[in-house]
Amino acid sequence: MTTLEPRSDAPHRVLPGYYNNLQGSFDHAWAMMVRGAVDRRAAFHTPAVATVDAAGEPSQRVMVLRAADPVARTLRLHTDVRSQKFVHIGRQPRVSVLFYDAHAKLQIRIGARARLHTGDDIARAAWAASRPQGRLCYEQALAPGEAVDAPLPVLPADQRFAVADDGERNFAVLMATVDRVEWLYLAIEGHRRALWTWGDAAGWQGTWLAP
Ligand SMILES: Cc1cc2nc3c(=O)[nH]c(=O)nc-3n(C[C@H](O)[C@H](O)[C@H](O)COP(=O)(O)O)c2cc1C
Repeated sequence: MTTLEPRSDAPHRVLPGYYNNLQGSFDHAWAMMVRGAVDRRAAFHTPAVATVDAAGEPSQRVMVLRAADPVARTLRLHTDVRSQKFVHIGRQPRVSVLFYDAHAKLQIRIGARARLHTGDDIARAAWAASRPQGRLCYEQALAPGEAVDAPLPVLPADQRFAVADDGERNFAVLMATVDRVEWLYLAIEGHRRALWTWGDAAGWQGTWLAP
């Protein structure tokens, strides 16, 4: 998988096996996203997700990546039906998802078409698998982003993880079907940049880009 190529002038520096390998870079990009979904400490756990509002303004926010599936080409994220991003995607389903891992020296920019799931099998399964702590924000009576007169009171410890019944009504799965993967690997030996686009007939087509 990763063959390591020592540099002649820097014996401790190794380049990853995907450095000059287009398919290897693509596989590594997906492996990073798959790991990001399961490893809460991974930088890829919290990408920035961009939507477009009714006025055509771009809007970004950090979200938790819940699952990445290279075969289905999907990224799964969770959100609140009362949020701005839910409204944006309802109008205009194109999203951009940006990952950056400083340690891995890797940026990945995803282009995808989002689908919002509420009250269906996908939403029910994701809600059933979510933790009480994660459910808490969906149980707030105030919609996310609603103006309030003052900061909300500090919750007593015994109420912080209390589960109300109606959180599921506010819960949505954002399933993004990926059709564009743009990859940038930073290396002093020479950056590497590549783009893969999905076509229903051709599948994934990749090319190196000038960095
Ligand atoms: C580390 C981190 C993780 C977050 N994860 C999520 C998430 O998984 N889903 C979500 O809807 N908002 C998440 N948020 C909050 C969003 O960034 C955003 O503030 C909120 O959803 C409102 O966004 P909107 O008004 O653009 O819809 C997270 C924020 C941070 C800082």
